[in-house]
Amino acid sequence: MPEAMSPAPLMQLAMGITAAKILAVALERGVFDALAEGATATADDLARQTGLRPRPARVLLSGCTSLGLLTLAEGRYANSPLSEKFLVRGRRHYFGDLIAMFDRRVYPGLMRLNEAIAVDKPTTWDPEAHDSIFSGAGDQELADFWDAMKSLSSFTARQLSSTVDLATTRRLLDLGGGGGAYAIELCRKYPGLEVSIFDLPPVCKITEPIVTESSLAERISLIPGNFFADDQLPGGHDAVLLSMVLHDWGPEENKAIIAKSFAALDSDGRILLNDMLLDDSKAGPPDAALMGALMLAETRAGRTYTPQEYQSWLTEAGFVDTEVVRYHGVGANAVVLARKP
Ligand SMILES: C[S@@+](CC[C@H](N)C(=O)[O-])C[C@H]1O[C@@H](n2cnc3c(N)ncnc32)[C@H](O)[C@@H]1O
Repeated sequence: MPEAMSPAPLMQLAMGITAAKILAVALERGVFDALAEGATATADDLARQTGLRPRPARVLLSGCTSLGLLTLAEGRYANSPLSEKFLVRGRRHYFGDLIAMFDRRVYPGLMRLNEAIAVDKPTTWDPEAHDSIFSGAGDQELADFWDAMKSLSSFTARQLSSTVDLATTRRLLDLGGGGGAYAIELCRKYPGLEVSIFDLPPVCKITEPIVTESSLAERISLIPGNFFADDQLPGGHDAVLLSMVLHDWGPEENKAIIAKSFAALDSDGRILLNDMLLDDSKAGPPDAALMGALMLAETRAGRTYTPQEYQSWLTEAGFVDTEVVRYHGVGANAVVLARKP
């Protein structure tokens, strides 16, 4: 006999925030750093090392183990392979900066998602005081945001670099390329490529030392500017990348950015729209649908879009040969390609 339907999936959804907080608190307390390089420790050792009392330490460690972040054998905890690779500070694709930024800045705004939905205004920053999340943030908040963006994007950029062939591309304009993750990963993969990162002046300032540290400064330049306020975008490029930019804005703003990209590109140049896309049916996938809700809390007009929406804007701007390539990135799940005739 089929089992009666139970509300268990709803309980799991309702508990989702607890799992997210366990991850953020364990990271903040240095649990994964304490277990780096194959170290193991008992709950009492870890309580001492992280400055916790025994009861919360045990609860936190059980939570982490149940979520696959730690393993437990013969009374000793160890990092799972996932935590060892992405949650230990200093690792190449360290993901902790994204988790810390979500915990400090995004979750308080998401706690007010009911307001964002009721009044159609962002809740992670004050829309009465600033134009956008990018103009409203203080210096520390900006630095945290781009550390987080790098943490999300560096791994995704590597995945994109194996999804799209840029072997014949010479000069790519990375519009809204702040943080430098895409420029760095694409240049690492394609030795003949040069990238111009175009972003707001304060963001270029934050990105400059990241580029210098990557030892790719000879091939990556920074161009401060504003893709809305500037009449023209820099020319001399055979490709334009817009990665995780269009979901921040409404359709009219996106059409304007795409039209300016078309005007700036060399003839026969390509555009790459890399983002977390909904299916054309708009029924999912969940990561794209949930990112749409995040954009309600983070932006005035942004949301996640479908391939059809991107393709129609590209065609309207004059692009041809549009193609949608799906891939399993962390921060993006598709790249929409098109060519300027
Ligand atoms: C969500 S981030 C994406 C960063 C990067 N492309 C990535 O995928 O990691 C959006 C980027 O757009 C930039 N941006 C926002 N408004 C802009 C404007 N008016 N002109 C140029 N860049 C802008 C932001 O500073 C930020 O770097």
